[in-house]
Order: sequence, then C-alpha cells, then structure tokens
Amino acid sequence: MAKKLIGDPIDRIDGTQKVTGSARYSADVKRPGLVHGVLVMSTVANGTIQTLDTTETLRLPGILAVMSHTNAPKLGGMDKNKSGETASDRVLHVFQDNLVHYNNQPIAMVIADTFEQAVEGASLVRVTYATEPVKPGLPTSTDKPLTPPRLPRVDDQVDTTRGDVKKGMAGAASTLEATYKTPTQFHNALEPHAVLSFWEGDKLTMYTTTQGISGYQKRVAELFGMPKENVRVITQYLGGGFGSKGTTFSQAMLGPMAAKLVGKPVKLVLKREHMFGMVGSRSATVQTMNVGATADGQLTAMTHDTLAQTSAFDEFMEPAGTITRMLYACPNLATTHKFIKANVGSTSPMRAPGEAPGVFALECAIDEMADKLKIDPLQFRLKNYAEEDPHRNRPFSSKSLRECYQQGADQFGWSKRAKQPRATRDGNYLVGMGMATTVYPVNRGESTAMVRLNTDGTVRLETGTQDLGTGTFTIMNQLAAEVLGLSPDQVTLGAGDSKYPEAVGSGGSRTTVTTGSAVTQAAQEVLKKAKKMAYSDKKSPLYAVAEAEIEAKNGRLESKSDPKKGESFTSLLKRNGNKPIEATTLSKSGAEKETHSMSAFGAIFVEVRVDEALGEVRISRMLGNIAAGKIVNAKTAKSQILGGMVWGVSMALHEYAALDTRNARIMNPNLAEYHVPVNADIRDIDAIFIDEADETVNPAGVKGIGEIGIVGTVSAIANAIYHATGKRHYDLPITVEKLI
Ligand code: MOS
Repeated sequence: MAKKLIGDPIDRIDGTQKVTGSARYSADVKRPGLVHGVLVMSTVANGTIQTLDTTETLRLPGILAVMSHTNAPKLGGMDKNKSGETASDRVLHVFQDNLVHYNNQPIAMVIADTFEQAVEGASLVRVTYATEPVKPGLPTSTDKPLTPPRLPRVDDQVDTTRGDVKKGMAGAASTLEATYKTPTQFHNALEPHAVLSFWEGDKLTMYTTTQGISGYQKRVAELFGMPKENVRVITQYLGGGFGSKGTTFSQAMLGPMAAKLVGKPVKLVLKREHMFGMVGSRSATVQTMNVGATADGQLTAMTHDTLAQTSAFDEFMEPAGTITRMLYACPNLATTHKFIKANVGSTSPMRAPGEAPGVFALECAIDEMADKLKIDPLQFRLKNYAEEDPHRNRPFSSKSLRECYQQGADQFGWSKRAKQPRATRDGNYLVGMGMATTVYPVNRGESTAMVRLNTDGTVRLETGTQDLGTGTFTIMNQLAAEVLGLSPDQVTLGAGDSKYPEAVGSGGSRTTVTTGSAVTQAAQEVLKKAKKMAYSDKKSPLYAVAEAEIEAKNGRLESKSDPKKGESFTSLLKRNGNKPIEATTLSKSGAEKETHSMSAFGAIFVEVRVDEALGEVRISRMLGNIAAGKIVNAKTAKSQILGGMVWGVSMALHEYAALDTRNARIMNPNLAEYHVPVNADIRDIDAIFIDEADETVNPAGVKGIGEIGIVGTVSAIANAIYHATGKRHYDLPITVEKLI
C-alpha cells in the first residue's frame, strides 16, 4: 500500500474549546485560597541592590509578603546543573543575592490576596542601587569578542573550515564582502508566561506555560533539590512560545518559592513589559559574509563570521553560521561564532535560532553574488546545488529542494521577473520579486508513548507532550489512528501533564519528529501484537495468514489480497481474554543519525511593492514550497508554514527592540511599540507541500515544520526589495526610514 504523504486536514481537537473560551490556559486555572504574585523589576542594568524598602507596600490591605533576596527561600540546586547545559542553565540566580545583571530583572515579588493589591503593592516598593558601568551590548559594544564554549546544538562545532578559503577566493572571478546586522528581538507569544504553584507537603504542582513539560519538571526538581516524582507540571493549552517557554526561566522557581513562603497557592502572570528580559531574547547579530565564484557561477569559497551577544551570566550563542556550512556545494568554506557579554537578559533560542538570522545573511549574499555575475538567482542556486551534505559528507535522507524551486517558480511566475532591478512600476509602486532557499534541520530527541487498544475498538494514547497551539495533540491522534486503521476520533489522548510518559520539549521543530515517532512505534507494536493474536488464533478468519499479508483498516484486521477475510479488533479481543492490547515505546535516533544528513528544505518566493515616495513596503504575494517528509495534517501543517512566513515578514520589516544604550533598558516593551505584522500587513500568502517519502529519517517519516517557514522568508523579502528598488539593505528590520 502506498503511504499517504499528505495527511487529512482535520480540525484541531481543542479548536472548539479555544474559540469558545472554554479552554483554561495556565493563567486561567483557579484554586481555593489562591493568592497573586506581581514582580518588581530592576531599573538599573548593572550593580547591587542597596536598600529595598517595603514599608509602604506592607501598609496596604491584603499584602501577604514581599519576597526578595532578603527573605526568599534559598535554593540548594542552583548550581547543580545536571542537564549539562550552561553554568546557570539560563535561570538567573534570582532572589538569591543582591546582584543586578540587566535592566528589567526581577528583584522582588509582592504577594497579595488580590491581583490588584499586588499590582499596587509592587508599585510602592522603593529600591536603591549601587551601580556599575553598563555594557549595553551590540551593536555599539567595543568589547573583545569571546569564543563560546559550544553552540546550542552540541554536535555543531563552533568554528569550521574545509578546503582552502584563501585559494578559493584567489580562484574566484568575482568576490563579495558584506556585513549584515540583525537586532535584538523578543518572542512575545500572545499568552504571557504564567505559573500557578502549590505545595501539598513536599509535593509541588505547577500549572504553567512550558514548551517542555518533562524538562521543566526535572529542572524545577533539581533547583529545589527534590525527586522529580514530587513535581507535577501541567500545561494543557499554550498560546505560543516561540522558544521563550522552552528554557526553564526564573519564574519557574519564583512561583514555587512564593508559594512556599506564604503557604498558599500563588499565581504569577508576567506583564507584557516583564517579558522583555527575564524570559529570553534573540541575540542581535553582526554577520560578515565573503563569497567567491567563477564567472559561470560556481561558488569557489565562502566565509561566514557571526558576532552575537549573551548575558553577563550565560553562554548562549546564536548559531548563525550552521546552515552556510551545508546549504551549497562550495569546496572552500569557513565559519566562526563569537559573542560578547553584556548587561542584557539571557539571549536564548527564538524562532529558528541561528537559522533565521544566518540564512538572512547567506541568502542575501547569494542573491547579490548572482546579480554581480548576471545570473538568475534561482539558476545560481541550482548551479551550486549540494547533492550531498558538504559539511558532514553524507547523503541526505531525502532532499526535494529542486522540486520546491521548480514548482514554486512555476506557480509564482518567476520567469516573468524582470532581469534588471528597479524595472517594474505600478503607479507609485516599484514592484520586485525575490526568492530564497529555506531549510531547517531534523532534530530528534527522546520521547515515550503509550498506546492501548481497548476491547471496544477505541484507542487510548498517552504521552507527556505539550501543544504550543500548533496542533500537536490533534496530529498525535492522527498518527496513532493511521497505523491502526482507525479514524482519529476513535483515539483519546492523555497529554499536557507530567503524569504521562516523558516526551521531548517542543523546540527545534522536534515534536512530531520525536514524539510522533514514539506514537507511531507504540501503535505499530500494538498492531503487531494484534496481528499475532489473529494469525495464532484458530478461530480467527486470519488464522495462519502471514503477518505481512494482514493490514488494519476501518477497525478491522483483514487480508490484503482478500479483504473479506478478516475481523474487527473487537471480536478478536473479545475472543482472546477480553483484555486491551498495550505498548509503551521509547523512541530515539538510531544509525541514521551517523549515516545521513537530515533536513527539511523549501523555496520562498515574494513579491513586494515599495512606495517610492513614502518608503512603505507592501508584500503583495508570498509563496512557500516546502518538502518536509510526510505531512501528518495538511491544515495544521500549512498554518505552521504560513505562521513562520509571517514571522519572516516581522523580522524583515518590523521587529526590533529599541535599546537605550545609556542604561541598557528596552524602550519599547509593549505590543504598541514593538511592532509585529497584523492582518493588514499580509495579503496573498500561500504554502504548498511537496510530496516527499523519507523512510530513513524516523519512524513517522516526518521532518520538523515549526521553524522552516521563517528561515528563508526574511531574505526573500530583502531580495525582493532590492529587485524593486535597486538598493540593497543589510540592516534589519528594513523600516520605512531606511527606504526613503
Ligand atoms: Mo524553538 S526557538 O526551537 O522553541
């Protein structure tokens, strides 16, 4: 039977709850005796707290406590980082000492009976500081860049060289050097970070906003020096995360600390303004690209040097050079990564960390080089197509990038693109077309899933995954149903709770890749057991039929060649002890990790209209053509790509944190001034999946689609603006004032 490569576009199973308001997000959960915490933030970027006067606050009605370094529970597990990441695991030692490392750092929490009392109380805490000189970070920093100890994905080397770059450049007919700048960005999920914590004896329960229930549970247990079984983490719904809910940031400890201090359930919900610092940011980058090519368009050499920033207490490096290593066949290539330390909140993964800013630089440089050589940018990319991964020297498990280019170009009308920039006008508008390659690696972790086939023919699926809002819960049911020949509504799901089997964190587009594989494998194991039950049972119509000859279809097992020969799961189980069949499977990478290079690929095409007088950019058309292995649900998957492309618009044209360099304070910590695209910014947008069967990549046959949408979109827009206006932009975002 040919495998179905694009799955049914069914609605999200939690869609109705969400749109009718009955979904209870973490901040909506109530408990008897619940009290409220509101944070007080630092107003200096570097120094020590001298006095923290709570007199006025404590005079207010309803105030239970003001928690700060003076009275907060001390945590034994702070430095015992068993997860092996960086020294602090990006959880600042908040309230453990009087140090201030960045502006807008949490320094106290007012806990009160009502939220309003806590808000007022927080406004009346008076703080004095002894300040130190401020390091505001990029782009003004003159500090000597440091080499980070590692990149976030530990198997990525920090610096790489292959071939002889000097020789490659010397052999080039044309060379290009360009420096690209990207700004600090904040994730700004619609749902702010929230945590409701309560203790029952030495057992802690947290309703929280996390992209990784299992990791969060372990980290909190570590911080409080307790076994993980004593920490229960529940995340039933999420309103986005974009990476900022992937790391266990400081609210994860502040919530339980406060609950312990006052002996009551405490709810802590971050204000929008509080999300600009303590829950991560995408590092600003300065990236220099050098490209050399022959006159007929063969790349001879490339270098990609990235400078980023990290906080004073962390070592996160934005890994912008990793895609450059593998995207094109280029014999001589070097990449470096360096960072400076600054008085900023921890930089952290955000929406394709590394890939998004890195591919902006790479694909703009490729476009500019094509232009220099007078070769069509798509042809130039095809000329340098990597048939195998030139960085790892391995074949790809699958790569359908040619098909993406081809179908995208046909559908978008790329052949109609004017050869010269600034050649197409429509009234006041200069019209341009641009494209870029998009790519995202397959990241697979470890997940466990339990599948139980009940005697009534329904299935129970349990796995401790979370759903960022992307449709994870829905497609897990689809995967189990597909293997067992059922319809997804015959599967009920237990997820969003650490009481279920441990599942991977939803970062790096690894959820379906990892947990989807665990679900697939557990369901396959159940199916195998059911088949065995049938062919071993003299009373079954399938008695003595070969296993490979039996398939699951419509709640039945039947013979492939003679579908009438078969029986329902129900009758099979009833006759065989009337017990469910169950399997629990731990799924992780195998040999393919060493033998193959695995990535999703795609092509993004963009048409822009730039108002010549006003400098306003309108993106009139966008098309993404994506090959990402099997697509489990055509609807939720398409939404993922469209959402990613919208974030590409955001990065290209809108988003940046405005920094006051005197005090390293973010000046636009709200959604009124920190701009993201709204509906009116998005016109004709579409995403199409290319059929791609990949038997190697993982048991589910899927590649991640959470982040690939943003990666190539940023440069496709920049390249389209060049084609419209004849002017290149190297500094994101490309705002109105840069265009006039
Ligand atoms: Mo993501 S930024 O890998 O959650």
